[in-house]
This record gives sequence, C-alpha cells and structure tokens, in this order.
Amino acid sequence: MSASQYADLSAEEILALRKEYLMPNHAMYYKKPIAIVEGKMQFLYDSTGKEYLDAIGGIVTVSVGHCHPYVIEKTKDQIDKIQHTTCLYLHPNIVKFAKLLASKMPSPDLKQTFFTNSGSESNELAILMARLYSGVPDILALRNAYHGDTVGTMSAGARGVFNSAYEPLLFEVGRIPFPKAGHEQATLDALEVACSQKEAAAFICEPMP
Ligand SMILES: Cc1ncc(COP(=O)(O)O)c(C=O)c1O
Repeated sequence: MSASQYADLSAEEILALRKEYLMPNHAMYYKKPIAIVEGKMQFLYDSTGKEYLDAIGGIVTVSVGHCHPYVIEKTKDQIDKIQHTTCLYLHPNIVKFAKLLASKMPSPDLKQTFFTNSGSESNELAILMARLYSGVPDILALRNAYHGDTVGTMSAGARGVFNSAYEPLLFEVGRIPFPKAGHEQATLDALEVACSQKEAAAFICEPMP
C-alpha cells in the first residue's frame, strides 16, 4: 500500500509542524518518531503504511481497540443527531448507559456513575471523592507512578519529568515502591508500614507500570 493512502504529510513534515505549532510539553517515544495515522481493531498503521500490532488496543485508559465497526457506527449515529449538550439537560443515552454499567457491577451498591472525559479527570475525581469521604488530604501512590496530566494527577504521579516544575504538589504523597515481579510482598509490606505511619485518603495504583 502506498504511503499517500495513509497520510498527506510524512513523519518528518508532521514533526516539523508539531515543533512549530504545538506546545513542547509532551515527550515522544523514539529518536525518530513514527506517525500513527490509521487503526483497525488491534492493528495500527504509520504514515508509510507499515502495520503494527497494538498489544493493549489503545492506551491504558481507552483499551477498546481501533475503529471497531460497532463503535464507529454508534459514534456516527450520535454525531449525526447531536454532538454535545451539558448535564444541565436530560438525554436518554447517558441514563441508559449508566443503567447498563450498573448491571455489570459486582454489587448493587455500585450503582451510580459519574462520567468523565479522560483518565486524568477520572483520577482527579477519585482522589477528590476519597478526600471528601475520609476528610484526609494526602494520599499514597507508587514511586514512578503516572496518573495523568492535570495538576492533581501530576501531584499523585511521581515522574520527575512531569513533577519538577509543579512543586509544591497539591497534597502530600507517601511513596510505595513499585511491585517487581517476584517481589510483590515488599510492596505490600511497604504499603502496610505507610498506612500505619500516615493517614491517607486513598492508595492510587495503576494496573500496568
Ligand atoms: C495509567 C494511566 N493513568 C492515567 C492516564 C491519563 O489518562 P488521560 O490521558 O486520558 O487523561 C493514562 C494515560 O495514558 C494512564 O496510562
């Protein structure tokens, strides 16, 4: 397949435009970045038409694969009708979806949903709810954690590259060592010690390092 079927700009041209017009805050993988321009289910395609197998089907927070026909069909149906309203108005789909989600939960107590737009926003909300519920401002998190790019989730995160310019953080974070394969007990022990030493609203931990 020819590259032009995939993108009208080469990776080099995209990179040059990105440097000129986008803020430089986001790091890129690879010295020679690839331009991912198409996706189909578990596959991704770069601007030269090269195929890649996407082992997590998206990013950690949206792992539904790429351009699944069902998702595309439903998205197009909705966009044809109305793209956006706010929660100030009623819409049938949000309540139908919340009801469907409730039916999948392991307990009838987990019935109500607060929908968010991104992983960062979900984590912000989770931390906020834990703080409101516990009355404790601080949290526990893993060393080297990543929880998003908002100020609160950067505070919970621990990557120097994200945090250096943001200190002081929004709250104190007790750091737990990353679980290493075969040494998970060390993390559990550290968590127990941290919980006995410091009050924390929550322990936040991503499922995949
Ligand atoms: C573990 C984890 N938490 C939070 C986020 C942030 O999600 P978003 O980019 O949707 O705000 C990501 C994004 O990749 C993530 O991998």
